[in-house]
Parts: sequence; C-alpha cells; structure tokens
Amino acid sequence: MEKIPVAVASDHAGYALKEFLKNKLSLAGYAVVDAGTDSAASCDYPVYAEAGCRKVLDGEAALCILCCGTGAGMSIAANKMKGIRAACCSDTFTARYIRLHNDANVLCLGARVVGEGLAWELAEAFLTAEFEGGKHARRVGLITKLEENN
Ligand code: RB5
Repeated sequence: MEKIPVAVASDHAGYALKEFLKNKLSLAGYAVVDAGTDSAASCDYPVYAEAGCRKVLDGEAALCILCCGTGAGMSIAANKMKGIRAACCSDTFTARYIRLHNDANVLCLGARVVGEGLAWELAEAFLTAEFEGGKHARRVGLITKLEENN
C-alpha cells in the first residue's frame, strides 16, 4: 500500500507522544509533517490543532494526528475548522471506523489516556483504513451541510 503524508501536532501534554509517533511513522515509511509544538513547555492546544489541521486543508498531508492530554480539547478545536472531521479515540475499532464510515481526516489521542503501544495501534488502524463511500458518503455530505449552514 502506498504510504501517505501524515501531519502530527500536539500541545505540551501530548508532546512526548507526538515525538514517539513521529519516529514510528517514519520507520513505517510515512512522510511526517510536524506542525509543532517543539518542546514540553506549556502552550495552548487550539493553536496546534489549527496548525495540524491546516496541513491537511492545504494538501501538505492527507491525514493528521493530534495529541493533547485527553485528546478531547484537540478534537473540539479541530472540528471548528471547515473540512475537518476529527475524532478522539482510545479503541482500535473506533479508530478504524472513523475512516471507513466517517471519512475522518484527523485522529485525536490523549497522551494521559493511552500508552505508547496503544497509541501506535490506534494510529495504524486509522491510517490503513479507507473510506467506504456509498451511503456513508451521503451522511458525510450531510455533515458538510451542517458545517455550511451553522
Ligand atoms: C493541558 O493540561 C490539557 O488541558 C490539554 O492537553 C488537553 O487535555 C485539553 O483538552
């Protein structure tokens, strides 16, 4: 399977996990686009949610992984951006199905929730699944309408 460019971003709480994932992604053959942060110094997660999502919206990356303490703040912020469908996952079934059924383009992880091993399994599940289209495309289209109208 062709490897896709993947953006990663985090706040301070997700920094160590982002660095871990960057290394794993590179070893697995993905092109990694790092949108920060670049240290464990305290910072604001919406800034990095935007920076990571921007890489997808600008076409530099096909998908993005965002890490913060819970993954929740990142997903809330990311979903405010038009064209972004982000979900916070801590089980591999959901991490796979957000691609298959929801065409999610951003996976959010909680570094204080999942360990490194599970985080990598979540990333792999997300990155290797493909959107199924069909009736799911209609539903994703309805989400886009919600975004346009609200
Ligand atoms: C930072 O302490 C923490 O609030 C942040 O990483 C994230 O969990 C927010 O949702």
